[in-house]
Amino acid sequence: GNSVRVGLLGCGTVGEAFAELLVERRGAIEDVTGISLELARIAVRDPGKPRSAKLDSGLFTGDPYDVVKADDVDVVVELIGGTAPAGELILAALNAGKSVVTGNKELVASSGPELYAAADRAGVDFFFEAAAVAAVPILRPIRESLVGEDVTRVAGIVNGTTNYILTRMTADGLGFDEALAKAQELGYAEPDSTADITGADAASKLAILSSLAFNRSVAADDVAREGIVGLDREDFELAAQFGYVIKLLAVADRFPGDTGDEAGAQIGAQVFPALVERDHPLATVRDSFNAVFVTTSAAGELMFYGRGAGPRPSASSILGDVAAAADHLRRGTHRRVPVGAPAAIRPTEDLEYSFYIR
Ligand code: HSE
Repeated sequence: GNSVRVGLLGCGTVGEAFAELLVERRGAIEDVTGISLELARIAVRDPGKPRSAKLDSGLFTGDPYDVVKADDVDVVVELIGGTAPAGELILAALNAGKSVVTGNKELVASSGPELYAAADRAGVDFFFEAAAVAAVPILRPIRESLVGEDVTRVAGIVNGTTNYILTRMTADGLGFDEALAKAQELGYAEPDSTADITGADAASKLAILSSLAFNRSVAADDVAREGIVGLDREDFELAAQFGYVIKLLAVADRFPGDTGDEAGAQIGAQVFPALVERDHPLATVRDSFNAVFVTTSAAGELMFYGRGAGPRPSASSILGDVAAAADHLRRGTHRRVPVGAPAAIRPTEDLEYSFYIR
């Protein structure tokens, strides 16, 4: 029939928001696509723990293999986070012929190519829209709408926590620790917020975005990075005095080879705090919002903007991926992740990013 059964791994803040959104929106999705999404099972560490009243208590199991190997699950949604055991569970699900949707940027940035290959071998989808710039549909547009394009640059603000901290420090004169505590309270920060403030989270997202944009695999470790730790009141005051705001930018460029051919091409990628002129569109991106410019040879500049963090914005992306995977299952097709050979990485000392963005 036209029913697609969804199994969920993990029911933390994002997992629960996704499960609730699916239950809330399944009727509307069926109206539009003709597919009825059914939440079949949810694996959690503690099945006895009280959960959202919107979720049937009979759905919960303590064994994730009840989800990844179950005959009555078609699409597995991984929202446990971290690399282990999430990686093995995703591989097991793909090898069992199930399409997989995840928001796990750490895992995709570190083991992407292995997972794409497994999905392709199994003939199923592996989607991860929520792993980069949570609510904003950007990976599918890059993979599909821009597939014929020559992308030369991906640049923007891809971490909600640091953008929230920088906004509060600039606009309200809040101290760093106070602003970070608020970002944690609002559910923007990673479980270990070190990843946010050191730029590691932004580096993972830039690795994912640039891999798809340039069709070369770029790892998180290939991204040179500097976080926002150590910025103080004086930096913000000085920036303001000269008409700038401080933003944590993630920038990746494809540099053509000397002869302009593909052979000598390099990718340079960096995360760094930059001075952005007050009138620049990126300067107006506030709070936990994210924005990414994608520059291509034919379209020119495109800007993607929206909520880059938070449970419900992430749930929105995940639900879109689940609906796309369900549609492919119905048609007996899948979309391979088009990521080419490892990129030649431009050495950090050859990156000439200006810290003044106009
Ligand atoms: N900690 C991340 C952020 C969450 O602040 O952007 C979304 O990936």
